[in-house]
Amino acid sequence: MKFFIDTANLSQIKEANDLGILDGVTTNPSLMAKEGIKGNDAVIQHYKTICEMVNGDISAEVISTDFAGIIEEGKKLAAIHKNIVVKVPMIKEGIKAIKWFTDNGIKTNCTLVFSAGQAILAAKAGATYVSPFIGRIDDSSWDGVQLIEQIANIYGVQGFKTEILAASIRNALHIVKCAEAGADVCTCPLDSILGLLKHPLTDIGLAKFLEDAKKFA
Ligand code: E4P
Repeated sequence: MKFFIDTANLSQIKEANDLGILDGVTTNPSLMAKEGIKGNDAVIQHYKTICEMVNGDISAEVISTDFAGIIEEGKKLAAIHKNIVVKVPMIKEGIKAIKWFTDNGIKTNCTLVFSAGQAILAAKAGATYVSPFIGRIDDSSWDGVQLIEQIANIYGVQGFKTEILAASIRNALHIVKCAEAGADVCTCPLDSILGLLKHPLTDIGLAKFLEDAKKFA
């Protein structure tokens, strides 16, 4: 399973990238706004910076909702760097646009996916990635990880090539469960990635080793 970081924060991207296990980055309009990035030039520059920092796919989301607008915006985003993946919402115009991008060699990430039916449509349109939002599904009392399992099963049976990108990750356990359920990629906040490191027995064991090491150092 590939690891993406789900943020537009440059210092968090650097920290995850320095671990040596980062395969890409996802952003969305809310994450960009959180970093205070304003205006078209600043947005483009920010994506350029991320692409220079991380060697992997970088999702940049369109904000248009009509076919022509999504295509125009997506073409501009794709022109920033070869690693840009155009992130398109799961709407009718979005599906048409994903098919167009697929036919024109532009990678896509179909976002805001909450059902297996939506994931089938994204795959039919040739999306590079499909992003089911695990945490938001859990928040509404459904089982997000179960959706990953269902999509993985359908894609396996049908031979769809679209990669399952588990998004809206809330904690380290989500990452483990998504890996188990067959996600190809997990896009995570830095805290959830670092959460994978934690185990009290590791801390206790290391403290004891370091204490004993003093006896022969
Ligand atoms: C990433 O592609 C999604 O936009 C993101 O994971 C959504 O996460 P949230 O539900 O925490 O906003």
